[in-house]
Amino acid sequence: MPCTVIVGAFWGDEGKGKIISYLALKDKLDFCVRTGSVNAAHTVWKDGQKYALHMVPAAFINEKTRLLVAAGANVHVGQFFKELEQTRVEGRIGVDRDSSIIEEKHSAQDKASTINKGIGTTGWGVGPAIEERVRRTAKLAKDIPELKPYLTDSVQEVNDGLDAGMNVLLEGTQGFMLSLFLSGGYPYVTGRDTGASAIASEAGVGPTRVDDVLIVYKSFMTRVGAGPLPGEISKEEAQKRGWFEVAAGTGRDRRSAPFDFDLARKTARINGATQAAVTKLDSMFPKCAGARKFEALPSDAKEFVSEIERRSGVPVVLIGTGPDALDIIDLRK
Ligand code: IMP
Ligand code: MG
Repeated sequence: MPCTVIVGAFWGDEGKGKIISYLALKDKLDFCVRTGSVNAAHTVWKDGQKYALHMVPAAFINEKTRLLVAAGANVHVGQFFKELEQTRVEGRIGVDRDSSIIEEKHSAQDKASTINKGIGTTGWGVGPAIEERVRRTAKLAKDIPELKPYLTDSVQEVNDGLDAGMNVLLEGTQGFMLSLFLSGGYPYVTGRDTGASAIASEAGVGPTRVDDVLIVYKSFMTRVGAGPLPGEISKEEAQKRGWFEVAAGTGRDRRSAPFDFDLARKTARINGATQAAVTKLDSMFPKCAGARKFEALPSDAKEFVSEIERRSGVPVVLIGTGPDALDIIDLRK
């Protein structure tokens, strides 16, 4: 803090929602700004209940945090209201008046497009909605009467907050390896840049105002949809290792692969990461489940974390050991 960008290291689903919920509970978090769009789901557990959030910022579990949807985000109005009902954050959420609207027609276009079928998009229509924005024909949040009570200038709010020394978390969505420009994976990418600079840019925060970039690694890698996944293992092998996952958003199987240290270094560098989180250590090393102290970890798990630090060049400050927001080893001073 005061201004931290959270960025996913791989193809999304690294556990950003879990890391953000921990920070929301432990740190004094004044603002949380969600970027991106409805294609990404962030999983947050609160009081034994699971939330898969596509629109509401993951820090909602801190009742003092002001929640904002960024100017560069794409808003799905139906999903927004559905999540307001689930999370009850009406009084403290704002939608930037200049954010774009993603409509049903965009989803239909996405699903009908053969290009997107080859890529295996989520089908929410984010690509077509962004195309519409680029053509300057998109609807904005300020054009939607139901959104009126929530409209705000989030860019001004956040910059005023930073001027006043408040803590701001910029919530990246998806993962760096889905970046339209920087991942090297085109065309098997999403419709936007998912890197740390783009996250700050979508929120209207200049690069010199960002203090930390927290990159989130999962202990193994996963990918949904088409495109290369280095070191990919079979579904059967993933099940055997306890790595098999189903997408929180679309219910599709996630493909998986062992952690790639060289890729971790590359993504840390391009994102300018100053801190790292490692999630799901308990899926790699079941004896770690629920551990909240580094000393409690078995030596192979400790060695794995040290190797991530050594080879990524970034200090690991948070380690996830279970689904609960507080199942974390916090190594920050
Ligand atoms: P789109 O973002 O829906 O256009 O999908 C493009 C590619 O990004 C597909 O391979 C999707 O599976 C993937 N993708 C998009 N959002 C997410 C996410 O939040 N988590 C994981 N994969 C995603
Ligand atoms: Mg996800």
